[in-house]
Amino acid sequence: MPAYDLVIRNGTVVTPWAEGPADIGIRDGRFAAIGDLGGEGAAEQFDARGLHVLPGVIDTQVHFREPGLEHKETQASGMRAAALGGVAGVFEMPNTSPNTTTPELIADKLARAAGKVWIDHAFYLGGDGTNAGHLRAWEQTPGVAGVKVFMGASTGTLLVADDETLERIVADGRRRMAVHCEDEPRLLERKGLIPPGATAHWHPVWRDEVSALRATERLLRLARKHRRMVHVLHVTTAEEMEFLRGQKDLATVEVLANHLTLAAPDCYDRLGSLAQMNPPVRGERHRAALWAAVADGTVDILATDHAPHTREEKAKPYPASPSGMPGVQTLVPVMLDHVAKGRLPLQRLVDLTSAGPQRVFGLMGKGRIACGYDADLTIVDLKAERTIDDAQQASKVGWTPFHGMRVQGWPMATVVRGQVVMRDGEITGRPEGRAMRFLP
Ligand code: DOR
Repeated sequence: MPAYDLVIRNGTVVTPWAEGPADIGIRDGRFAAIGDLGGEGAAEQFDARGLHVLPGVIDTQVHFREPGLEHKETQASGMRAAALGGVAGVFEMPNTSPNTTTPELIADKLARAAGKVWIDHAFYLGGDGTNAGHLRAWEQTPGVAGVKVFMGASTGTLLVADDETLERIVADGRRRMAVHCEDEPRLLERKGLIPPGATAHWHPVWRDEVSALRATERLLRLARKHRRMVHVLHVTTAEEMEFLRGQKDLATVEVLANHLTLAAPDCYDRLGSLAQMNPPVRGERHRAALWAAVADGTVDILATDHAPHTREEKAKPYPASPSGMPGVQTLVPVMLDHVAKGRLPLQRLVDLTSAGPQRVFGLMGKGRIACGYDADLTIVDLKAERTIDDAQQASKVGWTPFHGMRVQGWPMATVVRGQVVMRDGEITGRPEGRAMRFLP
């Protein structure tokens, strides 16, 4: 019997700590050996000569819309897009219809995924006024990544606008609480400023920097009072980064590929409402501050907030146009292009997309290339030059804000627990994705 089920040979293995040539032996879905495996036998071989072998990329913020909004995305279509983009795991958001606010609705999402998806996954439990008081128990439901709270209204109806409800949630549990920080009272107040005939250029004016900072400060005040760890999602402003730099004992920080890559006003000039998302893409001053926070360690996690809406929906006149852009399939090529342009080291990207999620969420058995861990890999070609195109997109909505972008760096294969589920742009595996496990 061969020693391994799969050996990845001749690649350059990258971790947050090191980079160098190594073979990887995989047995029973886990890493079994890392080093020079010479002629050791394997049922299957993967020649990774010229390629870089990264720990499987985990996108900790995606919206797959099932149940209820399947015309935008399903778990199967979203996870297919993820696998094609080199993403080996996802955490999916609770603003579906109904909102994912009970253990039964988490179990329903898990059942819907079973046998239909290629990659491993977990779901956020939405926290709101309906379930505050139950969250300490319910956050232990299998398949739950953490609790998600919207402090500002976005797509759907999940919302915690007041401090009293927010405090009940902050005090109710100890798993990671991931929060969308925009101050709902200020958003409501400022919506009236949008003039008739406005375009999406108004989006960062309506949902301004103060709305974001005010919510983040409100959250941290309560987190400090109750000593609860919080994860501030998709930070977009220089002011929040400055504030969060002094809160690292309690707050972990996410940035999105969109906010690092796009900037106002250019994105609204080119893409109109397609570039509309919450919190908004802002100007160059903020983008530069996000990059500085990536460089100095303030940022823990890089994700996409994959939030598909159809072109028809996006064509509604602003501000009736919905907020959000697809992104799970373009995360790896867009970020590898930033690596190629010298904006961050490859090892830092690996930390933000695998070790970071593992550390922040207490993910078990994933997030690193080490013996005994799940054999999840993202295998990339750092030299490949390609053009991102709408036609490549597996998302049901069939468009990307990065259409036409020439990039250097491309995902060549996705491996999930030892199964090659994508190779050279084709889905190759069986849909055997499973729920991820977390520390209690
Ligand atoms: O732009 C966004 N779209 N931001 C969110 O917070 C939600 C998301 C969605 O679900 O469409």
